Amino acid sequence: MNFKDYIRVIPDFPQPGIRFKDITTLLKDGAAYRAAIDALKELVKDKQIDLIAGPEARGFVIGAPLALALGVGFVPIRKSGKLPGNTVEANYDLEYGKDKLAIHSDSISPGQKVLIADDLLATGGTIATSIKLIEQLGGEVIGATFLIELGYLAGRDKLQGIDVSSLITYE
Ligand code: PRP
Repeated sequence: MNFKDYIRVIPDFPQPGIRFKDITTLLKDGAAYRAAIDALKELVKDKQIDLIAGPEARGFVIGAPLALALGVGFVPIRKSGKLPGNTVEANYDLEYGKDKLAIHSDSISPGQKVLIADDLLATGGTIATSIKLIEQLGGEVIGATFLIELGYLAGRDKLQGIDVSSLITYE
């Protein structure tokens, strides 16, 4: 399946000059959504994974079904102020803007092997910060997998030492 055919590119959203990769056109197609999750599962099948962690919000729609497919648990990484329990938090820069991410302090036990899943790798800021939070809890990040990678933003360079995989790349 050519997954790129299911992604809609919207120019000048959310601001001029950004060509937004809209995954809702893939998500609404049940066969394409399932095939994408199956293909991501195939990319990581040789890894020993205890947990999947995914950043809000689009990381949930990729990470949670991938966790179910792999038979492991899912840990949400959320924007600050959303998680009810004790959290660790970190500031980060986005492709357009700034934000703060949080994870429940008891969501990962020391030594657990964590795969990060998200819809999109852009500048890598979200994932670099997610790695920081997971490692702060003693988790070991054993890879990061994405539906889409924007090669021209070189997010991979921010994730040195992490095994990065993606289904679709825009150069
Ligand atoms: C988007 C996307 C990734 C992140 C990628 O999420 O889903 O998580 O940006 O950008 P980066 O590699 O430059 O950090 P966003 O923060 O827009 O949140 P959303 O999923 O709630 O829309």
